[in-house]
Amino acid sequence: MAKSRGEFSSTFGFVMAAAGSAIGLGNIWGFPTQTAQNGGAAFVLVYLVLAFFIGYPLLMAEFVIGRHARSNPVGAYRSIAGGKTFVPAGYFGIIVAGLILSFYSILAGWMVAHAVEPFFKLIGADHLAAWVVDQSNITRNILFTSLFYVLTIGIIIGGVKSGIEKWSSRLMPTLIFMMILLTIYVLTLDGASDGLEVYLLPDFNKITDPQLILSALGQSFFSLSLGVGTMLVYGSYIANKENLVYLGVFVTLADIAIAFLAGLLIIPAMYVAANAGTEIFDPAGNLISGPTLVFQVLPELFNSMGPVGIPVALVFFVLMSIAALTSSISMLEVPVSYAVDTRNLQRQHSTWVIGGVFWIISIILVANFETLFGMVVSFTTQYSQPLLGLIICIFIGWVMNRNSILEELKKGSPTVADSIFMKVWPVFVKVISPLLIILVFLQSLNVF
Ligand code: PFF
Repeated sequence: MAKSRGEFSSTFGFVMAAAGSAIGLGNIWGFPTQTAQNGGAAFVLVYLVLAFFIGYPLLMAEFVIGRHARSNPVGAYRSIAGGKTFVPAGYFGIIVAGLILSFYSILAGWMVAHAVEPFFKLIGADHLAAWVVDQSNITRNILFTSLFYVLTIGIIIGGVKSGIEKWSSRLMPTLIFMMILLTIYVLTLDGASDGLEVYLLPDFNKITDPQLILSALGQSFFSLSLGVGTMLVYGSYIANKENLVYLGVFVTLADIAIAFLAGLLIIPAMYVAANAGTEIFDPAGNLISGPTLVFQVLPELFNSMGPVGIPVALVFFVLMSIAALTSSISMLEVPVSYAVDTRNLQRQHSTWVIGGVFWIISIILVANFETLFGMVVSFTTQYSQPLLGLIICIFIGWVMNRNSILEELKKGSPTVADSIFMKVWPVFVKVISPLLIILVFLQSLNVF
C-alpha cells in the first residue's frame, strides 16, 4: 500500500499544489465581492486576523494528521484513533469534497466558456461567440462542465508528482504573473482610484459587526479549502524533511495575498466599468456581486475597452479557469486517494469512475439549476465545512496523542517543541478555533 502512494518531490511543488488548492474562485471572485459588500477594508482586516488565527491552525491540523497517517481522511481517522468513531466523518468529508467539485466545476465551466469567447470574436465567428456565453443554454453548460472534468481527471490520473505537482507548478506562477499584469493595467484606467478607496479605506464602524466577522470566517474556511480533507490528503504526500509550520505559513500567506490582489483588481475594475457607463449597484444600493458581476459587469467593461478588451477578457477568464483547475484537482484527489490507498484500487480507473460519478451529479445540477444549485452550495460550504472543521479540531485537540503530534512536527523542525508555535497552536485547536467554528455554524443555521 505504502508503495503506491505518491510524495511531493520539492517544497516548491508542494507549496504550489496546496496554494493552488486554496487559491481559486473563492479568492478571485468571492473575496472581492464580500469585501465590497462588507465595508471594504474593515472586512479585509477581520479576514486577515481570522485567516491567521483560525484558518492557519486548522490547516496545520490537517497537515499534521495527514502526514502522520500517510493516508486519506478515512484511513487517517481509523489508524490514529485506533477505533471507528471518527471514520464516518472521514467518509462525510470525502462526499462533501466531491459535492463541492460538482458545483465548482459548473462555475469553472462558465469561466472556460468565457475564455473561449474572445477566440471566436477574433476569428469573426460572432454567432459562436454569443452561444458560448449564453448562460441559460443547458447544452453549452453541459459541454463546458464536461470539458472541465476532462482536464481535472486528466491531471489527477497523473498522480501526485506528474499530475498535481507538475501542473500546479506550471499553472500557479502563470496565474500570479497574469494577475499582477492585469491588476496594474486596470489600475491605470479612469475610475480605478474610486474603487481603490472603497477597498482600502476601512469603515471602522463595521469592524465589530457580527455578520461581518462570521462572513469573514466562512470565507477563510472555503478559501483555505478546510474541513473536507483536501489539505489532509495533500499533507499525507509531504516528505518528512519538510517543516510543516513554515509550509502552513507559506500557504496561508499565498492564499491571503492572492485574495488581496484580486480585490485590487476586481473592485477598481467595477468602478472603471461604472465610469464607462455600466450599472455596478443593485437596486438595494449594494455593489453587484455573484454571477452578474463576473459575467455581466466585467464583460461590459472589457467591451468598453475597444480592441484591447478582447485580450484583456481572454487573460482574465484564462486566469479564472486556471485558478479553478488547481482547486478542482484537490477536490477530486480526496475520494481518489481513498480508493487508491484504502480500497487498493488502481488510480487511473478510480479517477475515471469517481470523476464520472461527480460529473453525473454536476449534470443533474445543471439540468435543475434553479432548484438544486444553491442548495448544494449552502449544504457543503455553509453547513458541512464548518462542521467537519470542528470535528478536525476535536480530533487533533482532544483525541490525537500530544506526543505523536509533537513527533510529527519535529520531523522537519527539530526545535519546534520550544517554539512559540507549540505554545499557542494547541490552545487554538483545542479551544479557540472550535468555539469560533460553533459560532459560524450557529450563524449558518440563522440562530443570530
Ligand atoms: N479554496 C478554493 C477556492 O477558494 O476557490 C475552493 C475549495 C477547494 C474549497 C478545495 C474546498 C476544497 F476542498
